[in-house]
Amino acid sequence: MSNDMKILVTGVKGQLGYDCVRELTLRGYTNVKGIDIDDLDLTKEDDVKKYINEYKPDVVMHNAAWTAVDKAEENENKVYEVNALAPKYIAEACKEVNAKMVYISTDYVFNGLGDKPFNVDDPKEGLSVYGKTKAQGEDFVTSTIDKYFIVRISWVFGKNGNNFVKTMLKLANMGKNELNVVCDQIGSVTYTYDLSKLLCDMIETDKYGIYHATNEGYISWAEFAYEIFKQANKNVKVNPITTEEYLKLVPQQAKRPLNSRMSKDSLDKAGFKRLPDWKDALSRYLKELEEK
Ligand SMILES: NC(=O)c1ccc[n+]([C@@H]2O[C@H](COP(=O)([O-])OP(=O)(O)OC[C@H]3O[C@@H](n4cnc5c(N)ncnc54)[C@H](OP(=O)(O)O)[C@@H]3O)[C@@H](O)[C@H]2O)c1
Repeated sequence: MSNDMKILVTGVKGQLGYDCVRELTLRGYTNVKGIDIDDLDLTKEDDVKKYINEYKPDVVMHNAAWTAVDKAEENENKVYEVNALAPKYIAEACKEVNAKMVYISTDYVFNGLGDKPFNVDDPKEGLSVYGKTKAQGEDFVTSTIDKYFIVRISWVFGKNGNNFVKTMLKLANMGKNELNVVCDQIGSVTYTYDLSKLLCDMIETDKYGIYHATNEGYISWAEFAYEIFKQANKNVKVNPITTEEYLKLVPQQAKRPLNSRMSKDSLDKAGFKRLPDWKDALSRYLKELEEK
């Protein structure tokens, strides 16, 4: 099936951007352009507006971001430019050419308190520069255009980039047989291969709004590590430790939310299919890594 909708995908050298372009191409879209910072620096307002005005996309899938959470703490101005101003420029340009916009956001926009899943309209009280600037990006998008899909995700892994799964496998391959992993931060993983399918379904509709989209199941990082080693047949013992204990061993600059559970109510109400269970996603991801 061929499709003529013109789609611009940012962050193509990252995890999600790579999978979005792959999925769009598989679906037969012939007008897909994946770009990264060497094609267009999204913090340059005039360049962004000129580029989008000339390309005239029907959809912009904006995945690019400053994702180094700890380094963000000491680079606040730059991170604001990338995570808040860039989506503002893109939203303004989308408005001019009447394009739909997908803006990928994060569980870090919330304060991580309590043990209930956050709803899409809960207050945004991010704990870190990364979380705060992503929330500011959301606000720019919602105050600029109507045709937006804001999709919050968490604990991302994909073929094209670094992530927790790859780090665990690397440590196992280096001969580590025991690891301390945090057990009191609870959330959900997001396999970019699965998410890209949902995003492609979304852009074919006009069901605009804010969504949470992660693989099903709430877990801790320790449970995740345990399952990675189990499925990958690595003999590594996981010692569950608290965030407080972890911080004494490995000081981190950015605060992490303890509760990253996010409600899928808006996804269900709009009739979108939830992503598969996390263990299933992990097993397919490990196979995908083997094929590489
Ligand atoms: N990774 C996670 O765990 C996670 C969790 C929740 C939400 N998210 C969100 O999900 C989205 C996708 O994440 P991801 O893991 O796929 O990201 P990623 O792998 O880090 O890729 C992001 C891409 O954006 C590019 N970029 C950075 N600054 C740019 C600029 N000024 N202009 C143009 N491109 C620029 C990066 O280039 P460089 O590498 O050269 O900087 C990189 O190729 C992001 O919006 C992120 O905030 C991610």
